[in-house]
Amino acid sequence: MTTTRSKGAADTEALGAEVAAPLEPGDLVLVTGELGAGKTTFVRGACHALGVDGPVVSPTFSTGRSYRTRAGIAVSHLDLYRLGDMGSEEEGLLDDYLTPDAVAFVEWPAVAAQELPEPAVRVVLRHAGGDNRDVSVEWAGGRADENPRTLIG
Ligand SMILES: Nc1ncnc2c1ncn2[C@@H]1O[C@H](COP(=O)(O)OP(=O)(O)OP(=O)(O)O)[C@@H](O)[C@H]1O
Ligand SMILES: [Mg+2]
Repeated sequence: MTTTRSKGAADTEALGAEVAAPLEPGDLVLVTGELGAGKTTFVRGACHALGVDGPVVSPTFSTGRSYRTRAGIAVSHLDLYRLGDMGSEEEGLLDDYLTPDAVAFVEWPAVAAQELPEPAVRVVLRHAGGDNRDVSVEWAGGRADENPRTLIG
C-alpha cells in the first residue's frame, strides 16, 4: 500500500490518473472516504485519464453512471451512499454496472461489502486539514503500480 499527500483537488485528480493507468476491463476500484474527502474528484481524474470525455460528476442521485472512453471501453461510476440494505433489486443494479467489459469505480462501497466482487485496487481518502488529503492506494495481490499501461492511448 502506498499513501500520498494530496494538497488540492488537482493532486487528487492526478493520483486518480496514476491509478487508472494499469486498469483493465472488468477491474473494480473501491473508493472510500468521508463526505467531501475527494472520492468523486479522484474518480474524475481516473476517468479522464482512461479517455472519458466531458464532465464526470457525482452519481449520488442516480446511483450509477456509465461512460465510454474514446477507445470504446465501458466505464461505470457508482455511488452507493443512498443505498440501504441491499435488496435483490439493488443486487441486479450492481450486475448492470459491474460487467466483465467495464472498468468500475464504486464510492461508499461498504454499503454493499457482501455483494461486491474482489476489487483490483482499494483507494482510501482521508481529510488531513484544509485542502490536504492522504490518499492510500492498495492493489490486489500480484498487481502493482508498475503494471503496463493498457487502456490509455
Ligand atoms: N486535496 C483535495 N482532494 C480532493 N478534493 C479536494 C481537495 N482539496 C479540496 N477539495 C475539494 O473538496 C471537494 C471534494 O468533493 P468530492 O465530491 O470529490 O468528494 P466526495 O468524497 O466524492 O464527496 P461525497 O461523499 O459527497 O461523494 C471538492 O469541492 C474539491 O474541490
Ligand atoms: Mg462523491
